[in-house]
Amino acid sequence: MSLCAEANSKPPRNIWPREGRWLHAGIAFGVTWQLWSSLWMEPNWKHANYGSIGGILFSLHSWIGLMTVLFILWQWLWIASEPQIRREIFPWRGPWASILADARMLLRARLPPTGPRCGLAGLMHGLGLLAVTCTGVIGSVIFFFLPQSGTPPGDTLHMLVPLHEFLGTVVWVYWIGHVGMAVLHAWHREPIWGIFRPMD
Ligand code: HEM
Ligand code: HEM
Repeated sequence: MSLCAEANSKPPRNIWPREGRWLHAGIAFGVTWQLWSSLWMEPNWKHANYGSIGGILFSLHSWIGLMTVLFILWQWLWIASEPQIRREIFPWRGPWASILADARMLLRARLPPTGPRCGLAGLMHGLGLLAVTCTGVIGSVIFFFLPQSGTPPGDTLHMLVPLHEFLGTVVWVYWIGHVGMAVLHAWHREPIWGIFRPMD
């Protein structure tokens, strides 16, 4: 019997587990806010500046970023306790057949099925989660090690900030691909927005 069941015999009301939907809502909202706010925020290392939109956006980037990191930590605890989600998003030990089959479908310009299953989308979700985790954790380290009282940031921070910015670009690439695929599936009238209904 395959370890990665494609479907249950009795389908539930919403195909995504409830905890996964809450987690996804928190992470999707938080990361999307972080990416878009970074376009207009004005980092001020000396003091909090609430006198300009850019300054307020920078403070919000820090606080919403820290909240998003809490959701990300919760997601990792959930992954640690759920072998099925681990197999879906981190298929390092296979099965690779479904991933290759999905890739072949895409090459033939056909969309692979959606939902919680093993396949190319699951692998991409895992890689995206890793990128988001590294970006958020480094952002939090910057926050907690930022010198207080206007002292200029030290060498470690000078190294961490460009790393955070580089990872932020990787997250942009993931976000564009992930949202683009979701819109394509929705275009084909698949019930994909169920993942944003945590109360079902
Ligand atoms: C960059 C932040 C995001 C991350 C890290 C992320 C991560 C994930 C993960 C891990 C899953 C798999 C969930 C599961 O199977 O239990 C997933 C599914 C999904 N996400 Fe996101 N997501 C993000 C943002 C978004 C946004 C902004 C949208 C809005 C369009 C979105 C739409 C979806 C949809 C529709 C699915 C279901 C896909 C499927 O079943 O194949 N996500 N996402
Ligand atoms: C998942 C969470 C996060 C994401 C996706 C994210 C993403 C980004 C992005 C895309 C940028 C702009 C990069 C550029 O200009 O090329 C940025 C800048 C920045 N982020 Fe984050 N961030 C996150 C969390 C945090 C947290 C928790 C902090 C804590 C304070 C933080 C602090 C900063 C700072 C200080 C900058 C600006 C650096 C500068 O240009 O001087 N980020 N972030």
